[in-house]
Amino acid sequence: MNRRKKVLVVGGGGREHAIVSTLARGASAVDVYCAPGNGGIRREARAVDIGCDTPDDIERLASFARRESIDLTVVGPEAPLVLGIADRFEAEGLRIFGPPAAGARLEGSKCFLKEFLARRSIPTAEFRIFDRAEDALTHVETCPVPVVVKADGLAAGKGVIVARERREAVLAVEAIMVERRFGEAGRRIVVEECLAGSEVSLLVVTDGRSYIPLETAQDYKPAFDGGKGPNTGGMGSYSPYLSLGSPLVQQALERIIAPTIEGLRDEGIPFRGVLYAGLMLTSDGPKILEYNVRFGDPETQPILMRLGTDLLSLLEAAASEGGLERFTLEWDPRSAVCVVLASGGYPGSYEKGLAITGLEEAEQVAAPGEVKVFHAGTAAGAQGEIVTSGGRVLGVTALGETQEVARRRAYEAVAKIGFAGMRCRTDIAARS
Ligand code: AMP
Ligand code: GLY
Repeated sequence: MNRRKKVLVVGGGGREHAIVSTLARGASAVDVYCAPGNGGIRREARAVDIGCDTPDDIERLASFARRESIDLTVVGPEAPLVLGIADRFEAEGLRIFGPPAAGARLEGSKCFLKEFLARRSIPTAEFRIFDRAEDALTHVETCPVPVVVKADGLAAGKGVIVARERREAVLAVEAIMVERRFGEAGRRIVVEECLAGSEVSLLVVTDGRSYIPLETAQDYKPAFDGGKGPNTGGMGSYSPYLSLGSPLVQQALERIIAPTIEGLRDEGIPFRGVLYAGLMLTSDGPKILEYNVRFGDPETQPILMRLGTDLLSLLEAAASEGGLERFTLEWDPRSAVCVVLASGGYPGSYEKGLAITGLEEAEQVAAPGEVKVFHAGTAAGAQGEIVTSGGRVLGVTALGETQEVARRRAYEAVAKIGFAGMRCRTDIAARS
């Protein structure tokens, strides 16, 4: 008889809640642990106190995994990957789903990414790299605009400035390289051509050799309806966006994903985990804007709602080289739409600790399993009630026979939920 497996999910946002609950509803018998988790995850997994809010304490996570004989650790956010959590776990013989630090540089360093893409002739925006502010300023004084200025390192999604005018590009270079708004992340910058087209998130799971695409999704980064306002971590998403069989997806797989995985292997980097391509569909075909080395948030919520295959089997197969050869995935043909409910003021400052009502009613607006409220910035209050604890608070996700039905259902569920200052976009998955 197969014994129950133990899985540790690292992180505590909406993406991790989706991973936790998809593991729990899969065919494998599994006990799920989550560090640090959040108010909603605590109800479906054993929350692990790692003594801090951020999941960056690799030593504590490794000793927990060893002590509890965890069979597989799944890493949600990029920060621990960039810090080398996978290297640390593998050195101890602990199985982990996520790339080593050398592979996480695809996300952790925009300069590394662009140099890698250039070396491998993978389609991307034309670029220049600068490590001196004077040189970067001279360049943006004369280069064509719009132009995109990117801090090299991780900057919580805020280190990319699409400058419509020259003045903005100059201010961006000054903020990143002179004022050091993002600290060391701004020691170097990429200045690149601004591409036009529509954006799509294409996520593949890879064992370092074979890869398997997940259904596509689109996310909404700007804070307000119509794409207005500052960029956020993502205000909503839906899946599918393009069908996996479409020529654009096939082109992206052949010209971008496959050469990336092969290039990493050639350069001695065993990349096991999720390779998430942020693509721009340009008139010259798909080009890569950025790679993330983990599941997307909030794309994971609608994508995993539609996954028909046992998630643990997929992650375990990917965690060993060659494990994905001949692996296939089944998908729910329905659409899924995720609407993010944010704290008033997000992505700026906001209040925390506000009581949330209507969570159960929201999941009851449709048949069981059709609506799921994924928690992101939530915590358990003093009486065990759920309160807000972050900028993006909930991801209300619904399935429907069509995108329109899924969208209507998601917003019906949203209407049941309340907390002081609650805000969401009203145009997620609306056909323009
Ligand atoms: P990144 O973190 O590199 O994905 O950048 C964040 C967002 O900035 C992307 O989702 C795009 O909307 C935009 N962006 C980044 N690079 C470019 C580019 N070269 N051309 C146009 N938009 C871009
Ligand atoms: N949705 C964008 C990200 O996960 O980075």
